[in-house]
Amino acid sequence: MRRITTIIAAFLLAAALLQAQEQKIIPIETESTSLILVVRNNGEVQQLYYGSKVNASEFAAVPQRAGRYSSGFSAYPATGGRYQGEPALHLQYANGNHNTELYYSGLETRRRGDVTTTEIRLKDPVTSVEVSLFYDAYFKEDVILSHSVIRNGGKSPLRMLSYASGAISLRSDRYLLSHVHGGWAQEMQLENELLTHDTKVLESRRGTQNTQVGNPSFLLSLGTSELNEDSGDVVAGAFAWSGNYRISFERDPDDRLNIIAGINPFASAYPLAAGDSFTTPEMIWTFSSQGAGGASRNLHRWARNYGVYGGGNINPILLNSWEGAYFSFTTQTLINMIDDAASMGLEMFVLDDGWFGNEYPRNRDNAGLGDWQVNVTKLPEGMDYIASYAHSKGLKFGIWIEPEMVNPNSVLAHTHPDWVVQSPGREQYQVRNQWVLDLSNPAVQDFVYGIFDDVMKLSPAIDYVKWDCNRPVESFGSPYLGTDQDRFYVEYCQGFYKVMERIRAKYPDVLVQCCSSGGGRVDYGALSYFNEVWTSDDTDGYERVLMQYGTSLIYPACVMAAHVSAVPNHQSRNVTPLKFRFDVACQGRLGLELQPKLLEESELALVNRCVESYKTYRDVVFTGDLYRLGTPYGNDFYGMMYVSPDKRKAVVYTYCLRFNALGGEGHSFKLKGLDPARRYKVTEQNVNRSCWWGNGRSFTGAFLESGAFNPSLPSLYSSAVFVLEAE
Ligand code: DGJ
Repeated sequence: MRRITTIIAAFLLAAALLQAQEQKIIPIETESTSLILVVRNNGEVQQLYYGSKVNASEFAAVPQRAGRYSSGFSAYPATGGRYQGEPALHLQYANGNHNTELYYSGLETRRRGDVTTTEIRLKDPVTSVEVSLFYDAYFKEDVILSHSVIRNGGKSPLRMLSYASGAISLRSDRYLLSHVHGGWAQEMQLENELLTHDTKVLESRRGTQNTQVGNPSFLLSLGTSELNEDSGDVVAGAFAWSGNYRISFERDPDDRLNIIAGINPFASAYPLAAGDSFTTPEMIWTFSSQGAGGASRNLHRWARNYGVYGGGNINPILLNSWEGAYFSFTTQTLINMIDDAASMGLEMFVLDDGWFGNEYPRNRDNAGLGDWQVNVTKLPEGMDYIASYAHSKGLKFGIWIEPEMVNPNSVLAHTHPDWVVQSPGREQYQVRNQWVLDLSNPAVQDFVYGIFDDVMKLSPAIDYVKWDCNRPVESFGSPYLGTDQDRFYVEYCQGFYKVMERIRAKYPDVLVQCCSSGGGRVDYGALSYFNEVWTSDDTDGYERVLMQYGTSLIYPACVMAAHVSAVPNHQSRNVTPLKFRFDVACQGRLGLELQPKLLEESELALVNRCVESYKTYRDVVFTGDLYRLGTPYGNDFYGMMYVSPDKRKAVVYTYCLRFNALGGEGHSFKLKGLDPARRYKVTEQNVNRSCWWGNGRSFTGAFLESGAFNPSLPSLYSSAVFVLEAE
């Protein structure tokens, strides 16, 4: 009996080994992470692991489970066969059938510097549909990008009902999802939730302004109920698409968490003719065993090096005319503001909304959008006069446009009513008195490109364009697409990118800000064309601490435009000290958005001082690593810091967000990311008397990280900024 058992055991072992030998492992690796895929014996490609770096070859022995609910998680799960979960790919064929089963048909690996691209080719033998899964592994940044190319190799057209950019499966006993939500003037508010079984979805169906109420991004903490800043396994993701998005988190009956991210298939059953193919946008993934902070830093490094147009470059400190002048200005108003900006040490003046439209002058938000000619009543001397004046004062010059939109009160609306997004016979709803132009139409793409091109021709002194987009799509539909309305949402976004491609081809050096009523278009799709985003229309220092925290989870400081404005704040009516507003705005690309003439002498002195000090450390803001010192949620004190890549320089920001009577004794912050052995000289900025006893002295990184750093922040909205320089 024992002999028989031994023989059976040996047989099973041999079978397992045989299977192990036969299984082909496809490792996607970065410096510290591995994504392990396997080609099963039946040709199915499955995902085995995503996490800290492992020895990939050992995974060849992992057998395929014959689970009760599934036999593993496909690298790109398709509707059909035995799969019952959320699909990455769902196709409907001309004969009405919904089944697709994909099997391995080839592999290719290419290397470009530090980036390794793996292409896994899959094919459905019945329908001849082919899918290539692409994984770009960014070695140093520990970031993996995924996208797919779906090709209809059959003889009849099909419809894509889901067509995701990537799928990742994780295994843990607990999944904490952290994501942001919000609204106008209150974007990027963090929410955490433990995922239960079934499916949680983050999505937008807004067409434009997709990130005003959410964001196509998340952090997922494994095995914990709390978002931990410094330790623990965290997977983070961000979808590079400015249109409707959908990221689903399905905790399946086997307790895996399957994440599928891509274009939202809502009203977008995209047609694919025989022989045609569709390339999905990129999904960006990272893993860190160093908590949320580690995951954010990975994304930030990738963004600075690859993901953001001009990422990591230092962008100028500016004065924006909006809250200081709104629609009411003349040439002289602007000249005065330019003079003031120059004397405050700023580097650029940006003329916001209100400069255009003649037949329908843009004196309010109810007219003029679409008619991009300089208003001759307000600015009879023309744009070049103002832009050149800025240059003569040593400032760059920027201008605002909102080219995707049209007011019904405009020449454009009357001459091209068919260019407006609309549904036949239905009311064309207005938001902010405007309609959306149909960017799925190539003629509209030409027009929108032409707006940018013509505006640039107004003056050779235009260095910066603020591109706004102030409403979502409603009553969606394109007169151009006829009965093919399923294309609309996808092709609107593709149209937007086509325009941006042309703009970047002609104007590679112009700085372009992505604004959408504030942070309505903050995503890595847009950021591959834009230098920065307007984080929010709300510049209240306190609200900004929260919004900039939320933004920092996924996006780097170099893209975060942050302005100091007047009090009471025009949105929240809150009153915060000028220094607090500066100490918050200096976390990102600093700007001012107020009427300088209304500043008092003492305030002007502080402005000058803060601007000058920012210039001395902003290199660390734009290129350094972010360390959050806790969270602003539910805490009286909050801090964050940036450390230069060589750890020789750092800047530390500290705030009191709620009065705490103990604040007078100082709040202990444990600094992070420093070299423990190195000594750093600590210098508080923008004050005559420091709030920390150690100011002006040198301490080791170890000491500063011990909690001994305890600046006194005695009252609500006390704040302090310190620069640390290695000796
Ligand atoms: C919305 C933007 O977010 C503001 O900064 C400003 O540019 C206005 N639009 C102008 O209409």
